[in-house]
Amino acid sequence: MSLSEFTAQLDALLEAGTLAFRQAADGEALEEARVEFLGAKNGRLKAAQKGLGTVDRDDKPAAGKRFNEVKQALEAAFDEAKSQGGAAADPRAIDTTLPGIRPATGGLHPITQTIEALKDIMGRLGFTVADGPEVEDERHNFEALNIPLEHPARDPKDNFYLSHDGVVSQLLLRSQTSTVQIRVMDSTPPPVRIISLGRVYRPDEVDETHYPMFHQMEGLMIDTHVTMADLKTVLRMFATSYLGEDVHIRFRPSFFPFTEPSVEADFYWNGSWMEFGGAGMVDPNVLRAVGYDPAEVSGFAFGLGVERLCMRRHNITDIRNLYRGDVRFLAQFA
Ligand code: PHE
Repeated sequence: MSLSEFTAQLDALLEAGTLAFRQAADGEALEEARVEFLGAKNGRLKAAQKGLGTVDRDDKPAAGKRFNEVKQALEAAFDEAKSQGGAAADPRAIDTTLPGIRPATGGLHPITQTIEALKDIMGRLGFTVADGPEVEDERHNFEALNIPLEHPARDPKDNFYLSHDGVVSQLLLRSQTSTVQIRVMDSTPPPVRIISLGRVYRPDEVDETHYPMFHQMEGLMIDTHVTMADLKTVLRMFATSYLGEDVHIRFRPSFFPFTEPSVEADFYWNGSWMEFGGAGMVDPNVLRAVGYDPAEVSGFAFGLGVERLCMRRHNITDIRNLYRGDVRFLAQFA
């Protein structure tokens, strides 16, 4: 065999071996390729070595040198493939027909989903969304809502007042979304038809149904000749839309400083009555506080617990689950 024939054989072997090592998809395939090319007994390199004996005597040193170079290069290619665990780095070895790995995706929190649903339903009933701050002053949280200074609802122990340099301020985390009624009526003449959805804060002890922060949906409708019948109709249409079947509504007499008369609203659904919040006809004192004339306009207001609605619909029994941030729980609603 001539020198050029011998080296051509070696070069082809090097190329084939390097490719085989790179394409080996796992450790087992890599080992198979190793035996095929570098195997001490029947490996192709070993076979090529035999050709060395047939090369002309004068060319033997050059042929031998080339053989050693190829052997080293092939061993280096094997070592490199092995260091990658036999996982093929060559893109030609990737099976593009396999399904991809789906990245984990987030989803809306169940309370956010509930809020979106409530906005949607109330929007169809003609209510637009109004907003207000979570840090409020006493006028919006109490005074304009007809809650006088001596009223127990203003007890600092029952509210989150903000303090500054150790001095308790006149500001607090709102305890109800009724604050937004005042903000809207202060800035808009009647008629008014709004809802407001957001967080409220009360220093309640935490248990299955209580959490120091929760959400309310406030509703307010002011116009000429608005009556309790309108209130009941709106709540019933709302409850029927949200809970998905014919829901009964029950009013129980109650008291709120900012409504007269005042009621607790209960929904009957899936075999039991549930209390969902307070409601009533806006007290004339509140209308006067915002510069409305109680002789001209009247209206109703309601405040429903968003968590209750959400929990009832999804059969969630412990409010704390909503705020633990445990993805295993939340992912059920994504
Ligand atoms: N703000 C009352 C509460 O938090 C609910 C309510 C709103 C009652 C509007 C009457 C009218 O309990």
